[in-house]
Amino acid sequence: NPLGIILGSTQVVLDRQRPWEMREKAASFIMDEVMRLDTTLKAFLDFARPATPVLVEANVAEVFEETLSAIEERYRQEGYTIRRDFARRLPLMEADPGQLRQILMNILLNAFTAMPDGGEVVITIRSEKEPEMKKSATSKNDKRFISTRNPFTVPRDWLIITIADNGCGMTTEQLNKIFDPFISFRSDGIGLGLSIVSQLVKLHRGYMEIDSREDVGTTFTLFFPCILKKTAAREAV
Ligand SMILES: Nc1ncnc2c1ncn2[C@@H]1O[C@H](COP(=O)(O)OP(=O)(O)OP(=O)(O)O)[C@@H](O)[C@H]1O
Ligand SMILES: [Mg+2]
Repeated sequence: NPLGIILGSTQVVLDRQRPWEMREKAASFIMDEVMRLDTTLKAFLDFARPATPVLVEANVAEVFEETLSAIEERYRQEGYTIRRDFARRLPLMEADPGQLRQILMNILLNAFTAMPDGGEVVITIRSEKEPEMKKSATSKNDKRFISTRNPFTVPRDWLIITIADNGCGMTTEQLNKIFDPFISFRSDGIGLGLSIVSQLVKLHRGYMEIDSREDVGTTFTLFFPCILKKTAAREAV
C-alpha cells in the first residue's frame, strides 16, 4: 500500500540519527509514491464519475483517424503499427468524440501491452443491420468469448468496430474479470482502463464482445447504434 510506504519513508526522513543518503532515498520514495497515487486517483475519479457525454453527430472513422494519426508515430518507434480498414460512408452515431477517443485508447494501449516486443493492431469499422450475436455462431460452450449485450435492444443499424491484436491473450478466468474495477493482471496496471470502457460503451447504448485466446491474441468488437435516418428532414432540403 503506497500510504504505508509514504508513512515509513517519512519516519526515515525525520530521523536525524539516520545517514543523510538514507533520508534522501526515503524522500525520493515518497515522491515516487505520491506521483503514482496521483495517477491512480485521477483514473479513479474518471471511473467514479465519467463525465456526462456531450453528444454530437459523430463520424467514428474520423474521430479514430484523428486520434490514431496523433499518436501512431510515437508507437511506431516502439515497434507498433496500426492497420485501419474503415468502410467508406459509415453512418453517423450520436457520440461524445472525447469519450470515443478514450474508448479507443484504453483498448489500444492494452493491445500494445499484450505485445511487449511490438506488433500490429488491426482496427476495422463497418456497419450492419442487427448483427447476429457471435456466440450463437460459435460453439455454445466456448468460454473464451464473452458478450455484454442486452438482448432487449431494438433492431436498428449498428456500427461495428473491431480492435485486434496477436498478443499474449487471456485465460478464460481472466477474461471473465477484466471489466471489474481494479482488476489487473499486470504488475503495473491499475485495472481501470476497461471498467471505464465498459461504462462509456453503455453511456453510448452500445455493447461489446471479446474473444481472447492465450498466446494467440485478443479481439474487442464494439457495437454502437447509429442515428436513425432523418428522412423527413433530408427530403425537405
Ligand atoms: N488486449 C489484451 N490482451 C491481453 N490481455 C488484456 C488485453 N486487454 C486487457 N487485458 C487484460 O485485462 C486486464 C484489465 O485491463 P484494464 O485496461 O482494465 O487494466 P490494466 O490495463 O491492467 O490497467 P490500467 O488500464 O488501469 O492502466 C489487464 O491487466 C490485462 O491482463
Ligand atoms: Mg489498460
